[in-house]
Amino acid sequence: MKSNPSDSARRHEGDDTLPTELSELLDRSRSRLGPFGTVHYFREVASTNDVAAPLPEGAVVLADRQTAGRGRRGRTWFSPLGSGLYASVVLAPGRASSDPMRATLLLTLAAGVALTEGVEAATGLHADLKWPNDLYVARRKLAGILAEASGEHVILGFGINTSAESVPPDLRERVTSIESELGRHVDRYAVFLEALASLSRRYDDLLHGRFDAILDAWRRRAPASAGARVARTVNGVVETGLTAGIDDNGALLVRMGDRVERIVSGELQWL
Ligand code: BTN
Repeated sequence: MKSNPSDSARRHEGDDTLPTELSELLDRSRSRLGPFGTVHYFREVASTNDVAAPLPEGAVVLADRQTAGRGRRGRTWFSPLGSGLYASVVLAPGRASSDPMRATLLLTLAAGVALTEGVEAATGLHADLKWPNDLYVARRKLAGILAEASGEHVILGFGINTSAESVPPDLRERVTSIESELGRHVDRYAVFLEALASLSRRYDDLLHGRFDAILDAWRRRAPASAGARVARTVNGVVETGLTAGIDDNGALLVRMGDRVERIVSGELQWL
């Protein structure tokens, strides 16, 4: 379908003008994006999560570059110009029809599943999930998710390394990109829109209480969630154990000696 020229030039107050390729792809994909059809595009922001925080449910913020991108646990997220996807989506899992609490607990797992599905649909690259929601290819991190509460909303930020330039130079052993894995150029915006389309389907699962669909999909994509050796440090003491799956609320189970610990947050080291 030919896009309407006024759609291509679409811009919201304060946003930068959407690049034509993105605008055209957005118009073609809109029917699959559910609530995520409004994309606020910026050439540069400090962090897309901050820009998204005051926006309504469903709003999407995409930037070509972040000057203060952040990761989990106070880390920075390397966000150089045009070489990765830096995006945030405003969600409201608390309005889930059956069990808002469980929907909130499973939100980041659902998002991890959606990102793996989106990357695969756009490029054919299969990524694994590592609890709770990092995307990995062959033990190298490809993408990460940062969920932050903002009033009634959860701001779900995701960073996907699309080209080799998005990999921090000092982390080449542990971080990868879609293009490095596939050995060819990929269309960043196509990855972005497939990720949004998958997120729309998984968010719908979440809001309608289809939790088993999310958990099953997560488990299928997370081989290291069972039988992998992990360590964690509590009060300076290092404990090791073997992963034993996730429970129905998304907590990681780890067998440590003769007991099984339920891990809900905190840093785990994968050995
Ligand atoms: C992690 O794995 O530590 C989470 C990384 C999340 C990075 C994304 S990039 C878009 C959004 N804005 C941010 O400042 N962070 C998230």
